[in-house]
This record gives sequence, C-alpha cells and structure tokens, in this order.
Amino acid sequence: MSVISVANHKGGVGKTTTTVNLAAGLAQMGNKVLMIDLDPQANATCSVGLSKQDTSIFQVLMFQDDIRKCIQQLEQIDIVPSSIHLAGFEKNNEVGKEFILQESLSDIQTEYDYILIDCPPSLGALTVSALTASDYVVIPLQPEFLALQGMTEFIKILRTVKTRMNTSLELLGIVVTQYDGRKVLHQEILQHALGKYGDMIFDTRIRGNISLAEAQSMGKDIFQYDASSRGAEDYRGLTEEIIKRTRELVSG
Ligand SMILES: Nc1ncnc2c1ncn2[C@@H]1O[C@H](COP(=O)(O)OP(=O)(O)OP(=O)(O)O)[C@@H](O)[C@H]1O
Ligand SMILES: [Mg+2]
Repeated sequence: MSVISVANHKGGVGKTTTTVNLAAGLAQMGNKVLMIDLDPQANATCSVGLSKQDTSIFQVLMFQDDIRKCIQQLEQIDIVPSSIHLAGFEKNNEVGKEFILQESLSDIQTEYDYILIDCPPSLGALTVSALTASDYVVIPLQPEFLALQGMTEFIKILRTVKTRMNTSLELLGIVVTQYDGRKVLHQEILQHALGKYGDMIFDTRIRGNISLAEAQSMGKDIFQYDASSRGAEDYRGLTEEIIKRTRELVSG
C-alpha cells in the first residue's frame, strides 16, 4: 500500500487533474484506490461527479470521526469528499492537528493498494497534514517562468516535513503538465528542470489537451470521457511509471 500526495503550493498546475486521472488509471490496472480530496475548493470531488458533501474529510480532521463513515464508493474508486468548511482547519488550535490524517489512514491502509491525496494550493496545515500522512509526493510542474523557483521552495518544505513529522516521506517524482513541445520556452524550462532534478522528472509529459478540461467539467475521468485522447494516453503513461517506481521503492 502506498499513500501519495499530489502537491504544489502554486495554483492551477494540474494537481487535481493528475490526482483524478491517476486514481482512475491505477484502478483500471486492477488496483484498489481511495482518493481523498483535501482542498476546500472541492475540485476533485466535483471532478468525479459529486457535489460538495455533508460527510467529508472535514468530519475526520475536526471531530476525529471514523474515516470509514466518510468514504463513498464510486464505480471504479472510493473517495472521501471535501467540503468548503475544510478551510476552517487552518485556524483550528488542536495540538498536533497535522497528525490526525495520518492516524485516520492507519486504520484503513490494508484495504487499499493506493491512497491518493489532492492537496490545496497552499503550504498550510492541510498540505502539511497530507505530507505527514504520505509515503510519497508527486509534484506537478507547469513549464512557466518562475515555476522552478517555486519548486525549490516547495522541496524545502518537503525536507522540513520529512525531518520533523514523517521520516518516511519520499519525493516520487515531478510531472511536467500542460506541456507543449513546440514552444521554445517549454523546451527550455524542461531542460532546466532535467538539469536540476534529473531522474526525478517522470519521462511522461502531460501535454496540453482540451479533453482533460472537458472531462473535468463533465464529472468524468479522461478514460471515461475520451479513452483515445492525448490526455488519456499521457495519464496512462504516467500511471505505468508510478506503478513501476512505487514497486521499485517498496522492493528496495
Ligand atoms: N494537461 C492539461 N491540458 C489542458 N487543460 C488542463 C490540463 N491539466 C489541467 N488542465 C485544466 O487547467 C485547470 C487547472 O487544473 P487543475 O484544477 O488540475 O489544477 P490544480 O493545480 O488542481 O489547481 P488548484 O491549485 O486551484 O487546486 C483546470 O481547468 C484543468 O481542467
Ligand atoms: Mg486542485
């Protein structure tokens, strides 16, 4: 079993799109998958066709409810939805609140092959909770000016969480999203990223593909929406790489 956070404090880089389609890809390859929506915006919840929910991860984090009560079973995956109230967690004064998610997941770990957590675009208590509960982090990187600087900052936070909260946390990889190989700027940023992070950059690039945005707005994953799209092809490739990397790391 692997818990994977999809995180980057920068907004709109493809965290939710990656979480939802990776969850679907992993399920299609025969894995039992739980997706946790840890963003008060509830985009992952809406992306699988649910509306903002009464029973959400908020109950677990604020009232320590049993996470099993908040799991909803969909056709292919299970999900713990988000709610707008989750924003209140940042201000909650509970001591050690960043460990609540980790504790709740330890009860259900054996029931899943992969637990994926969609993080909000911030470095607050929600993202720290996700990282504390995770074995691995996948960082989506959009090839934009200054994106690499933001990445350096985020990797520093990862190191701090690893030292102080969760020594088993590992960076699984960085996935380049909304990539257009015809753009010189994208090529240059990719070369920079490869120079700096080398093997940590997944071979699969997620190309810009309108079907990914359309699928999200229809409450479907890319395989349900258009299995022959470039988006489906790319997320299939990423899923295979993630399965390979987690297996290699588990077997040491
Ligand atoms: N490869 C892609 N091609 C085209 N559109 C994409 C792609 N990936 C994501 N998008 C679109 O870009 C927007 C932002 O993506 P997404 O919601 O996944 O980012 P995010 O990092 O989760 O954002 P936030 O930080 O707000 O949570 C969405 O409208 C999504 O449909
Ligand atoms: Mg998101």
